Amino acid sequence: MNKLLLGVFGAIFAVGAMSAHASPEQDRQNLIQHFKKEYPKIKFDDYIYGALAFDKDSMDQYESIMEFPPFDSVVEQGRKMWETPFKNGQTYASCLPNGGKNIAGNYPMFDDKLGKVVTFEMAINDCRVKNGEQPYSQSDMKTMGVLTAYARTLSDGMLMNVKVESPAAQQAYEAGKHMFYKRSGQLNFACATCHINNAGKHLRSEVLSPILGQATHWPVFRGGENLVTLQNRYVGCQKMVRAVPHKEGSTEYNDLEYFHSYISNGLPLKASVFRK
Ligand code: HEC
Repeated sequence: MNKLLLGVFGAIFAVGAMSAHASPEQDRQNLIQHFKKEYPKIKFDDYIYGALAFDKDSMDQYESIMEFPPFDSVVEQGRKMWETPFKNGQTYASCLPNGGKNIAGNYPMFDDKLGKVVTFEMAINDCRVKNGEQPYSQSDMKTMGVLTAYARTLSDGMLMNVKVESPAAQQAYEAGKHMFYKRSGQLNFACATCHINNAGKHLRSEVLSPILGQATHWPVFRGGENLVTLQNRYVGCQKMVRAVPHKEGSTEYNDLEYFHSYISNGLPLKASVFRK
């Protein structure tokens, strides 16, 4: 694996410097400019397709699979979970803002009272706990995964709209950004090595997706049937470079998701989608 990866890249790439004190908006604009220069033909909105935007055959395959998604029954199961009232008669819709519609793009959000990042999954769990139910484990694809496969469809088309407004929020954003750019693992890769510096290029048989748009379409169904949430994908990518992954739902991953999602601001959400 080590040899394979290094063989593909030939050498360890230098990770492009991002100014440590740039504002989140400057970071986002810099990345948009970076990809515009690198790939002038790709339209901004097409970044939601990730690696597919770089390969017409894969895009055609994606479109035909998405006509009759093999994972429809799982999303339907999620709808039933969403609509089933808690023991006290309340529902997710009565507990979340705006009945749970067009809100997923506001997450992760920084809660100044709690002093931490709150993900959409945490908001759902908060709702469960307030209504006397047990929280779901964020890494449990059968509960939280299936539920969010439906709950996020209620925000389809909403533009990602993550805000970083207080000094504490800025700190969480910086922690997430640091993690994205920090090399780790036995192979000594940063997320940025693959998803910025080498985005659009091949790693073995796969095209590497750019950071822009990566947070907009979760969960995904890999191979059409295997449900993978965003933080579950973080685990997969960390294992790929032989780093010890963090726990799903950990502060580290929540901060990473906060930064990562901010960079997708302005792009439309879509749940759930097929991925290879
Ligand atoms: C050695 C290269 C490599 C590194 C380092 C890496 N990834 Fe990945 N990542 C991949 C490959 C390959 C895929 C599958 C193809 C694709 O969609 O990019 C992928 C997919 C993803 C996806 C899914 C994209 C989609 O549209 O489905 C996300 C999100 C992601 N990576 C985030 C991260 C994060 C965050 C890190 C750092 C913790 C990271 N990756 C580190 C190689 C890497």
